[in-house]
Amino acid sequence: MRVLVSGGAGFIGSHTVVQLVAAGHDVVVVDSFANAKPSVVARIEALTGQPLELHAFDLTDRDKTEQLFADEPVDAVIHFAGFKAVGESVEQPLAYYENNLGTTFSLLRAMQRHGVGTLVFSSSATVYGADAPVPMREDLPTSATNPYGWTKVMQEQVFRDVAATDPRMRIALLRYFNPVGAHPSGTMGEDPAGIPNNLMPYIAQVAVGLRERLGVFGDDYPTPDGTGVRDYIHVEDLAAGHIAALHRLTQVEDPVSVWNLGTGQGTSVLELLHAFERACGRELPYEVLPRRAGDIAESYADPTRAHNELGWRATRSIDDMCADTWRWQSQNPQGYPE
Ligand code: UFG
Repeated sequence: MRVLVSGGAGFIGSHTVVQLVAAGHDVVVVDSFANAKPSVVARIEALTGQPLELHAFDLTDRDKTEQLFADEPVDAVIHFAGFKAVGESVEQPLAYYENNLGTTFSLLRAMQRHGVGTLVFSSSATVYGADAPVPMREDLPTSATNPYGWTKVMQEQVFRDVAATDPRMRIALLRYFNPVGAHPSGTMGEDPAGIPNNLMPYIAQVAVGLRERLGVFGDDYPTPDGTGVRDYIHVEDLAAGHIAALHRLTQVEDPVSVWNLGTGQGTSVLELLHAFERACGRELPYEVLPRRAGDIAESYADPTRAHNELGWRATRSIDDMCADTWRWQSQNPQGYPE
């Protein structure tokens, strides 16, 4: 297939692009570089051994999006592009609604105009809201606790409504749990701008000496060690899930399919910290801070549906995730070069 990957220069996008090429697909990337550095492109090309077809613009621009579809016929779209910082979304809600919904609107318009019906979408476990029972199943009701989360709930709804009116549409909503890890080569990984919001990149920056100590957001949750429990999934497993979903969409009848991409295993903040200590070979300092507003105690997937319907499962362990993150962070302490 010829696949358009939006946000293909980002953390999950870049790993998926490498796997798509390895699986024999032609890839066209569109990325605004709002949250990715152009130097990732050379890293992708080094891993695939081929030049990357890249279009650098913002998909909220409907005319450019239309032109791209006119110039580059594609069979399918994987839509990663989007803003993703929870705290920032609370401060700049309009930017999140405009960007995350706007990119989806222009993609769907162009897809319909050019007869492209297959789309794989980056959704999130955040759509299960604050009170969902664990393990989380795809048939739970959706809700959100912040504007970022609402953009995912709303995009899912837009896809359902549009797919219901267009018999060509086959859409996968992939609900990611907590993506971490890096390419095993150590040449691609997560490169957050500024102070990391998420646990794994924060730990990695402590390990490499960029941050003094980890702040653990609460140790009084009703979990085995009192710290928050999440379902960390290796980005390489996640990327493989996209390819499995893309292939599956060619066989399904339903206009919309929803699949959790998680391991089904919960890991606490302190367990992840200790696993990282094993990977980097030293003790990492931490202090317990108050709970972070909006955090829940436990989140982990029921991945049964993806196992059964995609023939996909996560195979990499927490130790693999930490070892690969450490290889990336220690070889690229400042992330991708400017
Ligand atoms: N944590 C810390 N210290 C930190 C950062 C995080 O203790 O410096 C803790 C959090 O309290 C939580 C766990 O580590 O218990 C994981 O936090 P992350 O920020 O890494 O991940 P979240 O589960 O909060 O958020 C992730 C994605 C969001 C998504 C959400 C729900 O980053 O985009 O999952 O799917 F909305």
